[in-house]
Amino acid sequence: MNNAEEEKLSEKMKELESRKAKVLAGGGEKAIAKQHAKGKLSSRERLSLLFDAGTFVELDAYVKHRCTNFGMEKVEGAGEGVVTGYGKVDGRLVYAYSQDFTVIGGSLGEMHAAKICKVLDNALKVGAPVVGINDSGGARIQEGIDALKGYGDIFYRNTIGSGVIPQITAIMGPCAGGAVYSPALTDFIFMVDQTSQMFITGPQVIKTVTGEEVTAEALGGAMTHNSVSGVAQFIAADDEACIAEIRRLLSFLPSNNMETAPEYASAQDVNETAPWLNEMMPDNPNKPYDMYDIIRTIVDDGDYYEYMSHFGKNIVTCFARIDGKTVGIIANQPKYLAGCLDISASDKAARFIRTCDAFNIPILTIVDTPGFLPGTQQEYGGIIRHGAKMLYAYSEATVPMVTLIVRKAYGGAYIAMGSRHLGADILLAWPTAEIAVMGPQGAANIVFRNEIKESDDPKATRERVIKAYTDEFATPYKAAERGFVDDVIEPAATRPRLADAFDMLASKREARPAKKHGNIPL
Ligand code: HXC
Repeated sequence: MNNAEEEKLSEKMKELESRKAKVLAGGGEKAIAKQHAKGKLSSRERLSLLFDAGTFVELDAYVKHRCTNFGMEKVEGAGEGVVTGYGKVDGRLVYAYSQDFTVIGGSLGEMHAAKICKVLDNALKVGAPVVGINDSGGARIQEGIDALKGYGDIFYRNTIGSGVIPQITAIMGPCAGGAVYSPALTDFIFMVDQTSQMFITGPQVIKTVTGEEVTAEALGGAMTHNSVSGVAQFIAADDEACIAEIRRLLSFLPSNNMETAPEYASAQDVNETAPWLNEMMPDNPNKPYDMYDIIRTIVDDGDYYEYMSHFGKNIVTCFARIDGKTVGIIANQPKYLAGCLDISASDKAARFIRTCDAFNIPILTIVDTPGFLPGTQQEYGGIIRHGAKMLYAYSEATVPMVTLIVRKAYGGAYIAMGSRHLGADILLAWPTAEIAVMGPQGAANIVFRNEIKESDDPKATRERVIKAYTDEFATPYKAAERGFVDDVIEPAATRPRLADAFDMLASKREARPAKKHGNIPL
């Protein structure tokens, strides 16, 4: 290489360096400092926390917008306001995009959207999860319809990829208008407390249209969507915690629908029994206890990861491992509303069951429910439609399903909670299980109404028939006589029995009739 050639090459290298530096600078130091002052990390800081050190490979760093409206031709827009690429999380391939609020408010224009679409397309081709980090002013106003087109392209890809690759969204700033629908189409939404908001129309529009006054936080903050609307499933205290949680969630998931989740060896022996479980069930059937105590005892190392912990608390949904393998747990929580099923619980459970089934995660259902919650609020709210989602989700699921009935399993809720009749493979019950068409009190009021009324001592008669009903019907043995329950087990042996059941079911394959798609009640 002669001197002229060397000089030319170093000029090219200088140009590369200078272009790279511009992209890496994002919106500049001042804008990044403003971001930090709000308690938010920059788009690149977030990605560096997400990926294993040194594994992130950036794509499309030099993509530029081509808008000339409203003086946009003078706006450089480093990286088009979004950093995209792929890398490793715990050694596994993950794609990601991270909107950069320091560049044109992270607003989404045609080319910004094209970068995100490339991530979604590539991730789908190679079967890798996608993590989308949202921090954006929404559709780039200057780009008009081109920005809307960009959103449409993303929504379409979110939908086509649904059930094929896990899609995780983190809301780490504003997310308003139609922009909320990409997160809503993904499998999991994380929100950061106090620094993220999602809404279709903001406080000012609401005030103009309806006169209602509400703060952005109350309207669409992290806790609102975690506890009231059920739009988001996870809440984190800050950006660091949020990204650590996303990494944890990924550890429970496979990379795509053709794989199973990675295994992590348990420190706890799978054959370990828990004698305290034999004594834990309260004598009084109406006395609550904490379902988490049972869950902690039967899963590896007492470790579980909750899905929607602040919403529909009468049902618990969580990921955990048994013998090193991921399971999805759906369990009634007697501590809240006696563990009955209502609209929120049904929606939460149905979505979780379908998420597990889509990603080959075996399902463990733990039952202690007196039934569906009665009342006009529930009926007018469409409990029939919402409850049906649960029945549908269990019935269509083809992953291994094990159900454990620990106490009450009455009526429709008995069927809805992963019963044999909806396709569960192994049904186990504790001796404390009560499986019947309704509870003893309710049954006495109907079946023995006349006998009680006509007796000389109605109170004593009522007590006698309730006891007779309880002894005869409120047990696991009627169901076991029919084979609806495979075995009544000693509670202490629950962990080994569950591990054995899932191990036996590992090779389960179940085909369903070909169809375009089912028509789940929505
Ligand atoms: C273009 C935008 C922008 C947008 C923000 N910016 N949002 N540029 N299009 N949508 C720019 C600002 O002009 C500013 O540029 C910089 O980003 C930072 O914004 P600030 O307003 O200074 O930040 P902040 O005070 O933190 O307020 C953030 C905000 C606010 C609440 C998000 O920017 C805002 O209200 N933006 C508009 C939100 C909106 O209505 N978007 C359209 C939603 S409708 P300079 O140059 O001053 O630094 C939608 C439809 C999607 O998204 C439909 C899909 C189907």
